[in-house]
Amino acid sequence: MLMNKEIVILGIESSCDETAAAVVKNGIVLSNCIADQKIHQNFGGVIPEAASREHQKNIIPIVEEAIKIAKINKEQISAVAFTVGPGLLGSLLVGLSFAKSFASGLNIPIIEVNHMQAHVLAHFIKNDKNNDLQKQPSFPFLCLTVSGGHTEIVLVKDYFDMTVIGKTGDDAAGEAFDKIAKTLGLPYPGGPLIDKLAQTGNPLSFHFPSPNVSGYNFSFSGLKTAVLYLIRDEMKKNNNFINENLNDICASVQYTIVNILVNKLKLVSKELNINEIAIAGGVSANSELRKSLLKTGEETGWNVYLPELAYCTDNAAMIASVGYLKFMKKDFTSQNIVSKARLEFENTNLH
Ligand code: KG4
Ligand code: ZN
Repeated sequence: MLMNKEIVILGIESSCDETAAAVVKNGIVLSNCIADQKIHQNFGGVIPEAASREHQKNIIPIVEEAIKIAKINKEQISAVAFTVGPGLLGSLLVGLSFAKSFASGLNIPIIEVNHMQAHVLAHFIKNDKNNDLQKQPSFPFLCLTVSGGHTEIVLVKDYFDMTVIGKTGDDAAGEAFDKIAKTLGLPYPGGPLIDKLAQTGNPLSFHFPSPNVSGYNFSFSGLKTAVLYLIRDEMKKNNNFINENLNDICASVQYTIVNILVNKLKLVSKELNINEIAIAGGVSANSELRKSLLKTGEETGWNVYLPELAYCTDNAAMIASVGYLKFMKKDFTSQNIVSKARLEFENTNLH
């Protein structure tokens, strides 16, 4: 008789400043553990060397935790999925080297996962709570993928058939949040803090111009400079300008970023006649972006898909879940694989 074999995937994510491990059994997340690195808070950004060192410190404990919470034995693991790129090289190397040695010790395969593809596929993560209920986008859909390093519009035709059709020519949206937060004297990462402070601010207090970028592409460096100039000029008149206006500045910055993102999505959706709209990546946790997309959805007839908050920012559940999909296709990776700091989607066709 053919036995239904259990497929258990250990997923490892270490592309930036989160060391994460997750276990997925037969496509369902059993554990999703993250050790985030507080060390970068006071530097206004991630210090690559410090990040690699923290990954080295965290990787074994976080994997042990993921295995314990999943209530499995190491011997049950069928394959190890890991982030191959894009990301910080020193950070990626820690996850990849761990995956290789752990897998060769157990004599099981490894599976490489593209971090940005995993963010998009986070919409298909299954856990015991959402298994029956989760609304998943249907193909083809548009995914606005917004993180600390990327801002892209991805045309998703199938799980592994994705084309980048628009992207930022300078800063990513998350980077804009973080750099502006730094200018305002807020710790890293500034995105979630701006989101929080904006709740009680007036988004129309300060007007920042939106960039005029052709096609489906973005630009955020002008906004960063506009905020810098506003602060420089106002501080000359009032030393306490930031403190007195912090919530309003945050709300106005967030309003501008969200408008830039949503307006571009409206253009692409109209031109390609696609109403299945998803978001992914760290900035997809932004409450105003989520609200604005739902509102636009109601107005324009979009079906809007927002990932669960735990699956927006970097996590290993998305890596293990993609690992499971690849395992089912027997898409394994050779042990001589190397990390790829710069890794594009297979398809890029900018408009
Ligand atoms: O996907 P992610 O965790 O890591 C990268 O792959 O970059 O994204 C991190 C980015 C940071 O720039 C962070 O400030 C931003 O996502 N972010 C947010 C929010 N939560 C995270 N930005 C705005 N509002 C949020 N609530
Ligand atoms: Zn990410």
